[in-house]
Amino acid sequence: MSKNIVVAIDGYSSCGKSTLAKALAKKLHFIYVDSGAMYRAVTLYFLRNKVDINNPEQVAEALKNIHLNFHSRDYQTHITLNDEEVSDEIRLMPVSQNVSPVSAIREVRKEMVAQQQRMGKSKNIVMDGRDIGTAVFPHAQVKLFMTADPHVRAQRRYKELQATNSDVTLEEIFENLAHRDYSDTTRKESPLMRAEDAIILDNTNITPEEQLAFALAKVEPFLKK
Ligand code: DC
Repeated sequence: MSKNIVVAIDGYSSCGKSTLAKALAKKLHFIYVDSGAMYRAVTLYFLRNKVDINNPEQVAEALKNIHLNFHSRDYQTHITLNDEEVSDEIRLMPVSQNVSPVSAIREVRKEMVAQQQRMGKSKNIVMDGRDIGTAVFPHAQVKLFMTADPHVRAQRRYKELQATNSDVTLEEIFENLAHRDYSDTTRKESPLMRAEDAIILDNTNITPEEQLAFALAKVEPFLKK
């Protein structure tokens, strides 16, 4: 039997990683894993339980009490935090504003990366995040690094959030994205960076269909092996 295929998709916040990852997984009948949702769910737990992120003992204790599970239905992310469905709540601003410092904690990353590696051990998967091609699956067969103009990214996110009746402004979203880009690329633990062998995909001006065709062409050679 040939080895399972891993497609790693990394890149900046809100540049369409998950849209592409879901479409690709659906087309190929691979499992889709949204690694950002895991950091978001941990952040939600920390917020609810007032975990002091500067207190290593509190962080370690909290991590022991966090049980995450993915239920993949229709290639949408359904994540439970200790059996509670939190897929919508993890997208709201309180989590978005606090997730970067939480995801920069070494112990949090260690735990999440171990769980992610287990998920990709024996199944064909598409996983998106910030360190998938560099730290989680450095031997992934296909690595994509996505980027797009920050104003276009903020506008896309704004539209998405408006659909959920959120009253957040475009400026707030732009600020949040700029802030997360900065923290994600400058943090000490597994900063966001392009793996040497990752293919850059700038989607500022290309449609989701074109992105899917581009990615499929990169995966197809491995399907035949
Ligand atoms: O992809 P997202 O915006 O849902 O990710 C939320 C945050 O989690 C983001 O600010 C960076 C962090 N993250 C990470 O550090 N490593 C990953 N593999 C995925 C996300």
